Amino acid sequence: MTKNIGKKVFITRKIPDLAEKMLRENDFDVDVWPRDRAMSRKEIIKRLKKEKYDAVLCLLTDKMDAKIFDASPATKIFANYATGYDNIDVEEAKRRNIAVTNTPGVSSIAVAEHAFAMMLALTTRLVEGDTFIRKGKYLGWAPMNFVGTDFTGKTIGLIGVGNIGSQVARMAYGGFGAKIIYTDIRQNREVEEKYGAQKCESLESLLAQADMVSLHVPLIDSTYHLINETRLKMMKPTAFLINTSRGPVVDEATLVKALQNKTIRGAALDVFEFEPRLAFGLAKLSNVILTPHIASARESVRREMARLSAQSIIDFFAGKTPENKVN
Ligand code: GLV
Repeated sequence: MTKNIGKKVFITRKIPDLAEKMLRENDFDVDVWPRDRAMSRKEIIKRLKKEKYDAVLCLLTDKMDAKIFDASPATKIFANYATGYDNIDVEEAKRRNIAVTNTPGVSSIAVAEHAFAMMLALTTRLVEGDTFIRKGKYLGWAPMNFVGTDFTGKTIGLIGVGNIGSQVARMAYGGFGAKIIYTDIRQNREVEEKYGAQKCESLESLLAQADMVSLHVPLIDSTYHLINETRLKMMKPTAFLINTSRGPVVDEATLVKALQNKTIRGAALDVFEFEPRLAFGLAKLSNVILTPHIASARESVRREMARLSAQSIIDFFAGKTPENKVN
């Protein structure tokens, strides 16, 4: 195969070698940003202006918008190495006839397991206990030390039951006999039939009933600050909030206040509104668990993400519509 000779792909940060290997095997020239950190906007623009790239394989930390597209008029496809693609202005890309692709499905089980681990860590107070021991405070068993709450039989409120939310439903129902309630823009008959999930007539009704509220929506205009002060007040004071979706779905400053005032019992966050910066006061709270956006960080998942994003570029230049084109 020689038809990609002379075509150039830029990968904005080191990812598993498979992507580069697949692209080279298909005769693309590949440049990879050599530093192991996210490129700054200035660096991306400078790089794309300097070289003529036909395709860019980018990350969720790269904001790709009109300014970037202007800097790189030859680029016909941005293959996002992520499920979420809120970092890319897909509408602007569409106007310019630039394809955008993502890597859906391959991280669903990993992210669901992470959300689940967070739920159990909250109810068992696992992280608080670990911190307590490391601080040298453990003086022996005590009846009232870190008394947690039951998980089995509780009501799990899933906001969004796509690939990831459905996996959380499977785990919660199959493993813990949880009652599953959900909201989604569409009815999901599969989770209803398999896991007894019930669709709530409103978000408010879900928030009022759930012992555990887990977010599985993409970040779009209608989900920005979906969880705000009013909605946090609708939750039970004994309930927990889990966010493995995108930070700005939660108004983080308000969440800090709700956790300080015990409006809700606790929260676990893998994503942050102004990532990597945390809302003031968040890291000081003992009723929150924080992880650094690692829900999909598995060797197998990262490799599949590399494969899917490289395949999108290969398919695009073979004249096919990439399977995971989003615009
Ligand atoms: C990770 O956050 C992803 O969207 O893949």
